[in-house]
Amino acid sequence: MIDEQDIFGDGEEERIVDADKTEYDEVENILRPKSLDGYVGQDKVKDNLTVFMKAAKMRGEALDHVLLYGPPGLGKTTLAHIIASEMGSSIKVTSGPSIEKAGDLAAILTNLNQGDVLFIDEIHRLNHNIEEILYPAMEDFSLDFIIGKGPSARSVQIPLKKFTLIGATTKAGMLSSPLRDRFGVMLRLELYTPSELSEIASRSANTLGASIDKTAADEIGRRSRGTPRIVNRLLKRVRDFSSVLGHDSILEKDAKLALSRLEIDELGLDSTDRALLQSMIEKFNGGPVGLDTLAATVNEDANTIEDVYEPYLMQLGFISRTPRGRTCTKKAYEHLGYQFPEVKTKQTTLFDED
Ligand SMILES: Nc1ncnc2c1ncn2[C@@H]1O[C@H](COP(=O)(O)OP(=O)(O)OP(=O)(O)O)[C@@H](O)[C@H]1O
Ligand SMILES: [Mg+2]
Repeated sequence: MIDEQDIFGDGEEERIVDADKTEYDEVENILRPKSLDGYVGQDKVKDNLTVFMKAAKMRGEALDHVLLYGPPGLGKTTLAHIIASEMGSSIKVTSGPSIEKAGDLAAILTNLNQGDVLFIDEIHRLNHNIEEILYPAMEDFSLDFIIGKGPSARSVQIPLKKFTLIGATTKAGMLSSPLRDRFGVMLRLELYTPSELSEIASRSANTLGASIDKTAADEIGRRSRGTPRIVNRLLKRVRDFSSVLGHDSILEKDAKLALSRLEIDELGLDSTDRALLQSMIEKFNGGPVGLDTLAATVNEDANTIEDVYEPYLMQLGFISRTPRGRTCTKKAYEHLGYQFPEVKTKQTTLFDED
């Protein structure tokens, strides 16, 4: 008889349902679909992109600049690579924080060929003076420089090849408006449905050479917070349980066992989500409570709460945002097993006078 505890230890240190990237990036690359056909869900985005790409190809032009935005792990980087591949273009990948000097960006831009894709991840983190180089580059395909100082200063323009900039960000609101305005195509990725996530679980299992029952894939899909990156992460852990238990195929019971051992409940909430809701209920009477106060109470970064936890809790209808702060809904109370305090309205009747 196998003792679960011996095999699996007593739990995970990292937050398994965190949508942020970690050291799993190598497998992540393997699991990325390579074409729009393999890219599950996001139908509106795919439909629009298909039209724009087809039109650009018909005119023999580079695709207009594209901004992809939405919460972490929803497929922005994946989609950028797919766009380049569908356009038959080379892709050069960089990121906002890694471009330190104006000269770095100038060198990248002057090396691009006609139709190439320049992918800038975390574009909201570009330095302001570097961002300014992008304005004429995106609009007029030219690099504008000032050489010299004082009265002898003159401006020099270097023409660039017509390229496509694809920017990705989890914080579209942090982009300056001159930069945002220079994107012809803005695509917002949405959280995925459980059935789309189940399809991704099956597809990823296949790519990893594992077979999986539909019911197990469904179970993973339901508990992945609308996020493909979390599907892949949970799948790997579930597969570990399944292989150690000697199963040829990943079974529903493997998924259930693994997920309960990882303390992920049937809606995909982990202990951190529950602590957040619990603190709103117990310490703030369900709210409204300001983001910063809440963050301090649960010892988390306010940005992380806003970008990582909230989107899913809001999609579940557990948290709502009001002008006075966040509030916990009746659904959240019930999910955590609390009694919802119904608002007591004073009944005034004609006989209510004694
Ligand atoms: N539509 C999809 N269909 C199948 N798999 C997907 C899809 N979207 C994302 N994935 C998978 O999820 C993982 C994370 O996707 P990706 O790295 O593109 O997310 P991201 O939006 O760029 O995240 P971040 O904001 O953290 O950069 C990838 O391994 C990819 O295989
Ligand atoms: Mg990415």
